[in-house]
Amino acid sequence: MFSKFPLFQSHLDLAHNYWQSCVTPGDIVIDATCGNGRDTLFLCKLALSSGDGHAYAMDIQSMAIEKTRKLLSENLEANLLNRIILTQGCHSQFPTEICESSVKLIVYNLGYLPGGEKSLTTFSPTTLKSLESAQTLLKKGGIISLTCYPGHPAGKIEEEHLLAYVSGLEPKAWSSCHHRWINRREAPSLIILQKSA
Ligand SMILES: C[S@@+](CC[C@H](N)C(=O)[O-])C[C@H]1O[C@@H](n2cnc3c(N)ncnc32)[C@H](O)[C@@H]1O
Repeated sequence: MFSKFPLFQSHLDLAHNYWQSCVTPGDIVIDATCGNGRDTLFLCKLALSSGDGHAYAMDIQSMAIEKTRKLLSENLEANLLNRIILTQGCHSQFPTEICESSVKLIVYNLGYLPGGEKSLTTFSPTTLKSLESAQTLLKKGGIISLTCYPGHPAGKIEEEHLLAYVSGLEPKAWSSCHHRWINRREAPSLIILQKSA
């Protein structure tokens, strides 16, 4: 149905446009919810194609880490794989080796793994804790991208909490923007934050 809207068909197409305009080869990027690995693969193609870029990917589920590892190894040249760090764990605690003010893009695709256990969904207290750490890790001009899923009850609450938080960010330090479809009921939405350059 949405293939007739070539500008962007989904919130993910919209997110990808932002990611592409922000990341250049050599950047450090983080996928904070790697799931099946599709977003991680997209980020790796942007950041690792030349230079000394690094990608970090996290998920609480070991199955997600293994799916991501498989997808990356099937689609990327072997010499790139040692610049990707996969970590099983909660994104409220990023790997300590990531330096402050070093990361160009941090991506959250919230909710639960499609086709997986729905109770293993992101949860606003840990998402907000993670977002605070992400703000510190981000370099000037860097972007945080959050896709929200208000079509399920926990996702709706999480979106509300995130919007309340990002609406209050200091405008000189942060640009915060919320994209949502106003004629698609309960469609996913996209929050984009940019740190002042
Ligand atoms: C919508 S899926 C992500 C899809 C993924 N980006 C892709 O391209 O396939 C959300 C993921 O968030 C993970 N997750 C839930 N809570 C988390 C947490 N506290 N820390 C890290 N990952 C979490 C889930 O396990 C799930 O895999």
